[in-house]
Amino acid sequence: ASYDTAGYEHFLLKEIHEQPAAVERTLSGRLDERFATAHLGGLNLDARELREIRRVKILGCGSAYYAGEMGAQLIEELARIPAHSEPASEFRYRNPVIEADTLYVAVSQSGETYDTLAAVQEIKRKGGRVLGVVNTVGSAIARECDGGIYLHAGPEISVASTKAFTSTVIAFALLALHFGRINDLSPADGRRIVAGLKALPGQIREVLGQEAEIAKLAAEYAGSAGMMFIGRVRGYPVAREGAQKLKEISYVHAEAYPASELKHGPLALISPELPTVALVPDDELLDKNLTTLGEIKARSGRVLAIGHRAPEAKLADHAILVPKSEPELDPLLLNIPLQLLAYYAAVALERDVDKPRNLAKSVTVE
Ligand code: G6P
Repeated sequence: ASYDTAGYEHFLLKEIHEQPAAVERTLSGRLDERFATAHLGGLNLDARELREIRRVKILGCGSAYYAGEMGAQLIEELARIPAHSEPASEFRYRNPVIEADTLYVAVSQSGETYDTLAAVQEIKRKGGRVLGVVNTVGSAIARECDGGIYLHAGPEISVASTKAFTSTVIAFALLALHFGRINDLSPADGRRIVAGLKALPGQIREVLGQEAEIAKLAAEYAGSAGMMFIGRVRGYPVAREGAQKLKEISYVHAEAYPASELKHGPLALISPELPTVALVPDDELLDKNLTTLGEIKARSGRVLAIGHRAPEAKLADHAILVPKSEPELDPLLLNIPLQLLAYYAAVALERDVDKPRNLAKSVTVE
């Protein structure tokens, strides 16, 4: 039964709507309210081994790489350990330095992506330790890793990743919480994250409730020659994934930039023909983000803002509002409207939504 579209027009839309349930499964049995932490049975690393880790390097391809960028931010913020995500497809070609006190994490929905598997093999050949964040149980990458976290998101059929992306970020939030509580994260902050994670499925449902309005906006923006996606710090990986999704399934050209970089080049592109999707969460960077919107509007750019309250009319043409989470978890909710935006843009342009041209669900060759 999970292999039909269950009445939805496409697998992609079905999988977008499966996210609250997928998140519940990724969280299931892993949150510990008493000690304000997370339990991850498959890590195969005890507290002493975890405390010796000085760096985290995350590897994945496509959406898995962008989910890894959100994961890296969560680990740095909650566990205060330097963390980076890089494309697994590049890794083995640059003779990477493998360090004993770095934890490597391979991310893959399918567990079969050749580039990611080859990165894992390169790390292991050089004596490194790799965890897998994988959806498919018993897959090649899962078997090759020393331990890891299964997503339990359920089968993902549509080529573009939605529920596996969200569940991957949830898995990183659990890892960051677990790691953080072994290091310096306070019980109060731990409780804050536990409560934030528990609230997410209901909050994702709230965003999905705005589907009809988002579909209208998507049809309006789908005719653009291209779109710019911008965000600062936590918003930047959201922008990257949003641009990727739009490109993959609607074939509308999209670029993602850190909002702060706009003035260092891409501002030259801003015109009425190139609308901007701006991630403007209600966090410590809100004022800076609003200033950037003013700079875009001053160049006659159109702005669709995604955030927690609608900017003044002179700063944004449209706004999509999402429920507020904890600041560290906000990116997860900001990403949901971008999935619907890409989906309905692709529908408006009559694209092959579940099987976009030139792409495969899992690239198992070099
Ligand atoms: C392919 C798909 C992407 C996906 C990537 C990684 O390129 O088209 O949508 O993000 O593979 O897939 P994985 O199964 O390793 O997460």
